[in-house]
Amino acid sequence: MESHTLHHTHASVPVVIPSIGVGLYQCPPGETERIVTEALEVGYRHFDTAAVYRNEAAVGRALRASGLKRSAYFVTSKIWRDGFGPHTADHIQRTIEQLGLDYADLLLVHAPPQPHERLSTWEAMMEAQTSGTTRSIGVSNYGKHHIEQLRTQCGVLPSVNQIEVSPYLQRHELTSYCAQHDVRIVAYSPLTRGKKLDDPTLVAIATATEKTPAQVLLRWGLQKGYIVIPKSVNKHRLQENFSVFDFHLSQQHMQQLDACDEGLITGWDPTVWE
Ligand SMILES: NC(=O)c1ccc[n+]([C@@H]2O[C@H](COP(=O)([O-])OP(=O)(O)OC[C@H]3O[C@@H](n4cnc5c(N)ncnc54)[C@H](OP(=O)(O)O)[C@@H]3O)[C@@H](O)[C@H]2O)c1
Repeated sequence: MESHTLHHTHASVPVVIPSIGVGLYQCPPGETERIVTEALEVGYRHFDTAAVYRNEAAVGRALRASGLKRSAYFVTSKIWRDGFGPHTADHIQRTIEQLGLDYADLLLVHAPPQPHERLSTWEAMMEAQTSGTTRSIGVSNYGKHHIEQLRTQCGVLPSVNQIEVSPYLQRHELTSYCAQHDVRIVAYSPLTRGKKLDDPTLVAIATATEKTPAQVLLRWGLQKGYIVIPKSVNKHRLQENFSVFDFHLSQQHMQQLDACDEGLITGWDPTVWE
């Protein structure tokens, strides 16, 4: 499995994030322990949850029950919108309690707060990083203008920006800006929530490479240097999505996928918020 070292962290030990993780959105709490346990069996060591997914406690239980040492896995969670501004420190604490772990590896602001709460939210995140509650901090669904505000007014950049990205939604300006400032992209909904798995271009590349459309989408993200977090509740598909390190997309196949951009947003798009 590949990994990346995150920038903009204060940790004395480098923060290394596996380049593929399991997305846990819409994993019901009652099924989440099984999903995380099966994902660990497959080989995943990176888990993406959020306060609003209401399964942090189940994620923590499965990880603790695995018997792995804490440094062997990477956990991301996100602070939801009711935890912005004056509430951020409390919500960070609640997330850590729910996980039942000594620290998170990465905490994200789930979406840009209103302008008047944006800096205070980020300052509370910075404090959590300084105190060791989390090894790194980042943002999600931030547009360039949101990150620019942090850069110019706080001077501390996020280590990642978790945004929706796929060949069908490439966000060239935002991803270039993040690359320029060493803000790593975590690509969510990397399988387009299944919407494009039968796209003829994708299917043709999958046939040519003897891989599945889902594997080709993930490989495209990895070759762009993104971290990908596909979600599945099914062990067979968890395995399929993890088997993406034994092939390489040619320049021609990458170019064909690069030509698929159509601005497809499958969920929400807070990058355009004020
Ligand atoms: N920060 C944010 O605002 C935000 C927003 C959205 C998502 N996310 C994160 O990103 C993760 C992934 O995004 P997502 O869940 O929206 O969508 P996704 O990973 O693009 O797609 C998930 C869908 O694809 C299906 N699937 C999984 N593997 C497959 C395969 N190999 N072949 C065919 N279908 C497959 C899943 O069904 P089964 O489960 O039945 O396999 C599910 O319906 C989330 O779980 C969450 O952690 C973050």
